Amino acid sequence: KTSIKQLYQNTENFSDKDIIINGWIRTNRGSKHFGFIEVNDGTYFKGVQVVYEEDIDNFSQISKLTIATAITVRGKFILTPDSKQAFEIKADEIKIEASADSSYPLQKKRHTLEYLRTIAHLRPRSNTFSAVFRVRSLVAYAVHQFFQERDFVYTHTPIITASDAEGAGEMFHVTTLDLKNPPKNERGDIDFSKDFFDKATNLTVSGQLEAEAFALAFQKVYTFGPTFRAENSNTARHAAEFWMIEPEIAFADLNDDMELAEDMIKYVINYLLVNAAEEMNFFNSFINKGLLDKLNNIVNSDFAHITYTEAIDILTKAKKEFQYPVSWGMDLQTEHERYIAEEVYKKPVFVTDYPKDIKAFYMRLNDDEKTVAAMDLLVPGVGEIIGGSQREERHDILLERMSAVGLNSEDYWWYLELRKYGGVKHAGFGLGFERAIMYMTGMENIRDVLPFPRTVGNAEF
Ligand code: 4AD
Ligand code: MG
Repeated sequence: KTSIKQLYQNTENFSDKDIIINGWIRTNRGSKHFGFIEVNDGTYFKGVQVVYEEDIDNFSQISKLTIATAITVRGKFILTPDSKQAFEIKADEIKIEASADSSYPLQKKRHTLEYLRTIAHLRPRSNTFSAVFRVRSLVAYAVHQFFQERDFVYTHTPIITASDAEGAGEMFHVTTLDLKNPPKNERGDIDFSKDFFDKATNLTVSGQLEAEAFALAFQKVYTFGPTFRAENSNTARHAAEFWMIEPEIAFADLNDDMELAEDMIKYVINYLLVNAAEEMNFFNSFINKGLLDKLNNIVNSDFAHITYTEAIDILTKAKKEFQYPVSWGMDLQTEHERYIAEEVYKKPVFVTDYPKDIKAFYMRLNDDEKTVAAMDLLVPGVGEIIGGSQREERHDILLERMSAVGLNSEDYWWYLELRKYGGVKHAGFGLGFERAIMYMTGMENIRDVLPFPRTVGNAEF
């Protein structure tokens, strides 16, 4: 049996050979004496044309086969250098493996992305989603390859945790208690000491705290796993379940962290340009005109660096009305992030040294005592795709920061203890996997880069 990918990659070798392929019908144009089936087998972005003539068994049945019918084709592979396709298969036999009802919704016409979301179980068969999800797979592979080549240890951090790594309180709770009739303590609160883990637990919002523990043993580690946030923001770039890549490096500061992030992004883009040429051309033609030029520029130029204070200055002077007014101390909104990356720099921009009050407790306090050694990477079209920082390695300052934001330090005893035993300076970041895919494909909604998206009010599939 041959895959369509092999036909595209080794075309000459198959010339005039008898081959067998499996796949699903994309189109079938039958006429009186012959017909053409375009068949896709999922191994390659493109399908292959199968020609059948009236001497084939069951000709009249075959000429009526509907889109999505699963077939096995046996026939001769023929190079056709003078026609639109470089090759085709001349069928000797077409066997029907599974029929498809004519109600199949993905008939050969353009569908909106919104409509395709309502058929998430079928949309991977469309061109757009075939490209998106193959790219998703390749980006995951490239990320692993990037870190493994540099001797990072892939670390699996827990999905169920008792901590709130971001201190933002946006967690999905995990419990086995009967919530209709839960045990209560004297204060009338739910008594989680009676729960499965003897305490309240939640789905992880970040693997960072555990990654720090491993970085202080292995020096270079990364996580790559699902992450959950009960953020009630119904936007095109927030999902309740998304994947995050979180490297953590010891004996390293914020500059080392940004260098790593830039190298990683460039590596992955390069990998896609080489290994997903068909898909990237498709995005360039149909999703985001000029995407390939943009990505090539990114790979060949340095990312910009500005401080938060400089960013505020740029935004204040911008000849543009923002929905959210700009002032020092505010968190940057998507409109601000996109303005800086898209209109001012037209490339990825690191923004560093944010006010401590809008960032997480673990970020290292700068000497000005007002800002922290944080960095966000903002990119055109999406806004923030990376958030990272140098970590607060000074035990007492960390303790102070935790109590300032109202975290119970006893719950984080092990995290604090890391600062007592060789807790050298260290840094890390989190790359939102879906946002990276959006950036690299030009897809504009996070729902269209997740196989089965979970967003506010939606867990249909
Ligand atoms: O900026 P965030 O919240 O940083 C952290 O979680 C750190 N613990 C990372 C670290 O330093 N190890 O999230 C990191 C990235 C964001 O830049 C964004 O790309 C993505 O995760 N992200 C989301 N992606 C999709 N849906 C959401 N609700 C997201 N929240 C964050
Ligand atoms: Mg962030």
